[in-house]
Amino acid sequence: MKILSIETSCDDTGIAIIDTKGNKNPSFDVLSNIVSSQTIHQKYGGVYPAMAKREHQRNLVPVLIDALKKAKLLTLEQAQISDFKNIEKILEREPELYKKMITFLKKYAKPDIDLISVTNGPGLEPCLWVGVNFAKALSSFWNIPIVPVNHIESHILVNLLDLPAQAGNPKIKFPAIALVVSGGHTQIILVNGIGKYKILGETRDDAAGECFDKCAKILGLGYPGGPIISKLAEGYTLNAKPYTLKLPRPMISTKDYDFSFSGLKTAVLYAWQKTPASAKISGVAGMAAEVQQAIIDVLIKKTMRAVKNFNAKSLILGGGVSANQELRKQFLNRVQGLGSRVKLFVPKPDLSTDNGLMVAVAGYFNKNKKISWKKLVADGNLRIK
Ligand code: KG4
Ligand code: ZN
Repeated sequence: MKILSIETSCDDTGIAIIDTKGNKNPSFDVLSNIVSSQTIHQKYGGVYPAMAKREHQRNLVPVLIDALKKAKLLTLEQAQISDFKNIEKILEREPELYKKMITFLKKYAKPDIDLISVTNGPGLEPCLWVGVNFAKALSSFWNIPIVPVNHIESHILVNLLDLPAQAGNPKIKFPAIALVVSGGHTQIILVNGIGKYKILGETRDDAAGECFDKCAKILGLGYPGGPIISKLAEGYTLNAKPYTLKLPRPMISTKDYDFSFSGLKTAVLYAWQKTPASAKISGVAGMAAEVQQAIIDVLIKKTMRAVKNFNAKSLILGGGVSANQELRKQFLNRVQGLGSRVKLFVPKPDLSTDNGLMVAVAGYFNKNKKISWKKLVADGNLRIK
C-alpha cells in the first residue's frame, strides 16, 4: 500500500511517500521524504502563523513534485479534466496554492497512491488548514481516500519506522511512556498500545522547545534556538570552564507530571540583563549549557517517575527537542541504569523534528479511520486520546 503524507502544522512543509508491506508486522519502504524548512522565521526569532501559511502555499506543490519524482511516481500527462470548480472551492482561502495546484494537475498524471494522510492538529491553525485543504483537493481530484493524523501521535509512531527491518530490534512493548517535546508541546503520555493514549501531564505555559527558542532570543542567538543552544553547550562542556550561575528547575519536585518553563526563561532574562556586556561573550556558552541542563533535568525527573509509577516497558521520545544529543545521552544513561526492564526508543534526529514521514507511518496505523475529504477539518487544539 502506497501512502502519500502531508505535514504543515508549524513552519516545516513536509511530504513523504512510503510503500508498506505486511499487515501484522508491517515493513515500511521509504520512497521519499522531503522537508522544506521555512527560513524566513529566522529574521523574526519565532514563527508568525500568517507568514508560515503563505510559505506553505508556496512550498507545497514544489515539495510534492520533489517527493513524487524521488519516488518515481511523477508522470507527465495532459489532464482530460478541465473543470477545477471543486478545487477552486476547496482552496478558496489559498489563492496562491490554487494557481500552482491547477498548473500541476494539468501537467501530471494521477500517481499510484492508495491513501493520503495529513496532519489535522494540533498545531498552528492557519498552517494546518493549508495542508488539510491541499490534501482535500488532491483527494477529491484523484479520488484517493484520506486519513487525518494527530501530530503528537505521529511524533510517537515514527519510532515504529525501522523496527521490522532491523534484525533483533526490540519491538516496542506496552505499557510505554512517551515524552513528546516540541516547539508547541511538552506532554508525558501513557501508551497502552497503538491508538491507546492517556495524557498524564503537560506544560502549563511554554513548551520545552519554546523555552529553548525564547532563551536563545534573549541571548541574541537566533532561531530556532534549540540546535544553536545545543551546539554552544557542547562546545562549553568540551572546554569545561566553571560556570557558577544555577538556573531554577521549575516544578521538578511536584508530584504531578506537569511542567512549567516560562519561569526559567524569565530567570535567564534577568540574569542576562545583569551580566556586563564584556562578560556576555565569554559567558554565553556556559549560560547555554545551564539552560539546556535545566530543561533536561526537569524532563528526565518527571518522565522517569512516570516510567517507574506505570511500570513501563518502553520509553519513547519524540518531537524536535528529542533531537538534542545531550538529552538523548542522559535519557539513555537513566534507562540503562534500570537494566533490561525498560527499552528506550528515539527517532533519528531528522525524524525528531517535523517531517512528512512520521505522518505517513501514523497514517498507516490509522488506515481504518479513512473519512470523506468533505468531512475533514483542521483543529489547532486537537488532543491525543
Ligand atoms: O517538533 P518540532 O519540529 O515542531 C513542533 O511541532 O513544534 O519541534 C521544533 C522545536 C523547536 O523549538 C526547536 O528549537 C527544537 O524543537 N529543537 C531542539 C533541537 N532541535 C530542534 N531543541 C533542542 N535541541 C535540539 N537539537
Ligand atoms: Zn512537531
